[in-house]
Amino acid sequence: MCGIIGYIGSENAAPIIIEGLKKLEYRGYDSAGIAVYEESTSQFNVVKQKGRISALESRLSSIPLDSHMGIGHTRWATHGEPSDINSHPHLGNKSKIAIVHNGIIENYKKLKERLERKGIVFVSQTDSEVIAQLAEYYYNGDPMDMVIKVANRLEGSYALGIMCADQPDTLIAIKKDNPLIIGVSDHGNFIASDVPAVLKHTNKVYYLDDKEIAVLKKGSVQFFNMDKEPISKSLETVTWTLDSAEKGEYQHFMLKEIMEQPKVLRDTIRSAIYGGDNQAIIDKIDIESFNKVVVTGCGSAYNAGVVAKYVFESLCRFPSLEVELASEFRYKDAVIDEKSLVILISQSGETADTIAAMREARAKGATTLAIVNVVGSTIAKESDYCLFTLAGPEIAVATTKAFSTQLAMLYILAVRFAAKLNKITKEKESELLSYVEDLPAKVDSILKQVDAIQKYASTCVVYKSIFFIGRNIDYAIALEGSLKLKEISYIHSEAYAGGELKHGTISLIEEDTLVVAISNCERLHGKLMSNVEQVISRGAKVLLVTKLKDVQPTDRLSVINIPDSFDLFSPSLSVIVLQLFSYYVAANKGANIDKPRNLAKSVTVE
Ligand code: F6R
Repeated sequence: MCGIIGYIGSENAAPIIIEGLKKLEYRGYDSAGIAVYEESTSQFNVVKQKGRISALESRLSSIPLDSHMGIGHTRWATHGEPSDINSHPHLGNKSKIAIVHNGIIENYKKLKERLERKGIVFVSQTDSEVIAQLAEYYYNGDPMDMVIKVANRLEGSYALGIMCADQPDTLIAIKKDNPLIIGVSDHGNFIASDVPAVLKHTNKVYYLDDKEIAVLKKGSVQFFNMDKEPISKSLETVTWTLDSAEKGEYQHFMLKEIMEQPKVLRDTIRSAIYGGDNQAIIDKIDIESFNKVVVTGCGSAYNAGVVAKYVFESLCRFPSLEVELASEFRYKDAVIDEKSLVILISQSGETADTIAAMREARAKGATTLAIVNVVGSTIAKESDYCLFTLAGPEIAVATTKAFSTQLAMLYILAVRFAAKLNKITKEKESELLSYVEDLPAKVDSILKQVDAIQKYASTCVVYKSIFFIGRNIDYAIALEGSLKLKEISYIHSEAYAGGELKHGTISLIEEDTLVVAISNCERLHGKLMSNVEQVISRGAKVLLVTKLKDVQPTDRLSVINIPDSFDLFSPSLSVIVLQLFSYYVAANKGANIDKPRNLAKSVTVE
């Protein structure tokens, strides 16, 4: 969704802001803009452009912007079409205030009507412009007074960067329900939606909490509450490196992130098994005190939850275990209480539906346990317990490495819970954890088959529709394979439990349909192979992903073998093939892989 950046310091702001915006591109956007404060005129210089940041950049090359303070924005349209005029930054009528906004103002119509009645003329169709107009209306020379009054009137979510034309040395920021970090460097200070935007300059950041006000000057950052009282916050050191947020030799972030999986899996597994922070948290959770477990998330995070359901069910034998889409859970008046554990899965920690699910669960007295990748995110901060996947920054919109680390964390949780509940012996616990520890090396060996997978995928661009089938745990990972393929290649795809085919979907199978079959549950292998026979006899071609070595390829059946593993943990291996397959199908179609159309990395609105 939208991304914001702001800078105040001794260097030229415009190039720093443009560079920061490029690092926020992964969030998804349709237009971009920048406003810098021009000292010679005490005015804002604003350049906004529908389309890519490169288009904005080429316009800027003919407008030299020299300033020590500025704000920039990537917009993902929600209110008003993508256009130059609807892009941010927005100014008040008198050009005294410039703002950038990430979020949605729910009461903007009411506020707009009131301001219009006072003669204020709006120029865009956005909800965000109301913030600039309101800020200018309230401004009396004290930026903090203005911010407090504005925040008190806004309903909805916001991360805001604000400049006042008569305050050449102050950049002010506030947030509610959308992320905002404050970066501190030796040449100046930053506001940003996410860490990669500032990593080139600093790894020292403050994570702003809701309704905290940050006042940035060239050489200082101060924080205040809504009563204008100073508050102290701790400066955190981010462990992500600049390299981890760069594409390096790879054509796409997605491929780079797929290739990073052995390392990030190792890091995550270690932190959860060998005395790291994650292990300490897992140890603290008194699983015996709960009589119901609900796992929830959106998109791929939900798919990780479906995998978890099979694993938890099999190992922990919880009497009541559900997996729910967070977008459904939040509105269903779930039957949960203080004896429920709600596990929230989210890479960004900022997905609006997952945040709402967390708040709903907490309001009902449930304990929340989050599995999150982004430190300082809303879910990380508000959940009762938080386990961090150590995937590093994930830039490609389609998740790969974060998903894999979520799976590893969920297996470890399942094994540890099963042991605490005496459902498995100490020996079994060690054996299962050693299977988890073996995963990174096995993932590595699958990545070495990249050429074969690429070659196969290059023949698949012709398909109009690709189905994914599996049974049990293989069905769970089929859901992820199908999502990955459709979101980046735009080929229609659906995932089915093998046994469900004949209840409807098999009527769609004909000549020139591809079915990707996943078979790693030894006890169900025969059943799944019958499904494979059924679709082949109706004209389909099949790609079989399996650890079982008894299947010979034919002209209709191709086989990709993966290493042997404990059945329940095999999704971590099959998913690598499915990620590479989707990536190369999309690459062969020339798709915009890292930023698929209409999608955003962090879905911070409903
Ligand atoms: C798919 C994908 C999305 C996310 C979903 C949840 O590749 O990335 O489906 O999994 O938007 O996002 P997070 O995990 O940030 O809550």
